[in-house]
Amino acid sequence: MAATGSAVGLGNLWKFPYIAGENGGGAFVLVYLLCILMLGIPVMVAEVMLGRRGRQSPIRTMAALTREAGVGKFWNGIGWLGVVAGLLILSYYSVIAGWALAYIPDMTQGLFQGANAEQVKMRFDALRADRNGLIYYQSIFMLLTTGVVVFGVSRGLGVAVRLLMPLLFLILVALLVFAWQQGDFARGFEFMFHFNFEALTGESVLVALGHSFFTLSLGMGSIMAYGAYMPQQASIGKTVLMVGGLDTLVALMAGLAIFPIVFAHPGLEPSAGPELLFISLPIAFGNMVGGVLFGTVFFILVTIAAWTSAISLIEPGVAWLIENKGFNRFTANLLLALIAWVLGLGTVLSFNDWSEYTVFGFTFFDGMDFLTSRIMLPTTGLLIAVFVAWVMPRVLSKDELNGEGSVAYCLWFWMLRWVCPLGIALVLVYGLYDTFSS
Ligand code: PFF
Repeated sequence: MAATGSAVGLGNLWKFPYIAGENGGGAFVLVYLLCILMLGIPVMVAEVMLGRRGRQSPIRTMAALTREAGVGKFWNGIGWLGVVAGLLILSYYSVIAGWALAYIPDMTQGLFQGANAEQVKMRFDALRADRNGLIYYQSIFMLLTTGVVVFGVSRGLGVAVRLLMPLLFLILVALLVFAWQQGDFARGFEFMFHFNFEALTGESVLVALGHSFFTLSLGMGSIMAYGAYMPQQASIGKTVLMVGGLDTLVALMAGLAIFPIVFAHPGLEPSAGPELLFISLPIAFGNMVGGVLFGTVFFILVTIAAWTSAISLIEPGVAWLIENKGFNRFTANLLLALIAWVLGLGTVLSFNDWSEYTVFGFTFFDGMDFLTSRIMLPTTGLLIAVFVAWVMPRVLSKDELNGEGSVAYCLWFWMLRWVCPLGIALVLVYGLYDTFSS
């Protein structure tokens, strides 16, 4: 439950459709699905397995396992990279979650009733230009995230996920029906599943790889932290396949709801960028029966989905501060949330006052996303694969995964040993070269 709550979030509803739109649709979607299946799933099994083996915070788990494996401290870097990536991601994640929060009152007031593309865009542009408004909503979201401490992580998360998933699913189905009836469904479908390989570049393959880690919450220690709570007799393989399957389903449904609406409205473009979700779906809610209710519930759900993910972004750092630096849960959360909040101001400004300032063509927000999704997460994923398949004695993983069946274990080990390191390294090198040479 907690892992699903961590995986399903803004990555599925907001980020996947917009990067698929920016990278030409079909071929990108195919590469993304391949990355999930061939790289994401095996690394996820490895991460959960490390967490369950270590049963502590990611940093301590890695320290204990490197000791057990009798290798140097270099591998502890996996835990560290994760904690830092989590904070950086949280900084911009909370700003985008703030957009969803800001849309809740708009929806309840029926602001988008009967709206066309232009009116919805005007509303979004006003939100983006309103620096103080963005800071206000970012702050509320951050308070919600830190507030979880008061109620205890597991109880709050369980209820949120159990309620959220079926409801989110229902609303996505309603949106699909709307897209089918009122949108250009055929074009939307073709855009997502027609494999137009010319649109694919080294850079877009790297974006797909980075996103497959981002959406499954990998390479960050979050999943490792949750693995530490997993019962010994539960099947890691089955759990991971279920989380990965649900996560992919939600992303594909979001895309299939959004693109038909985009193609049916002349003012909208699939490559609109980060605002795609926020300028396409309000049109649907503004023009469907019961749109005020559906729209309100949808943006509440987006916020909750972001919230269950944000908790897992902060958790590895919190656990480390408690175990190593003598913090209590409350102050550890507060300190890390404060750091992420201050960094988030850079993202807020990159949508208005600083939108002209770029380095290598990246705004502050793009830079954060680039650094985390395209560099840090794949790097940690690579290190995890190499550590588990090459460094750690094989008996350890075999012992931890002995309930999974020997064929499944061998297949997984082979993928982790060969396919994952080579695949990730190739995409990283080629993608970075392509990004900076173009
Ligand atoms: N998987 C989340 C999403 O798709 O929105 C984002 C995320 C959460 C990434 C936790 C990384 C992480 F550790």
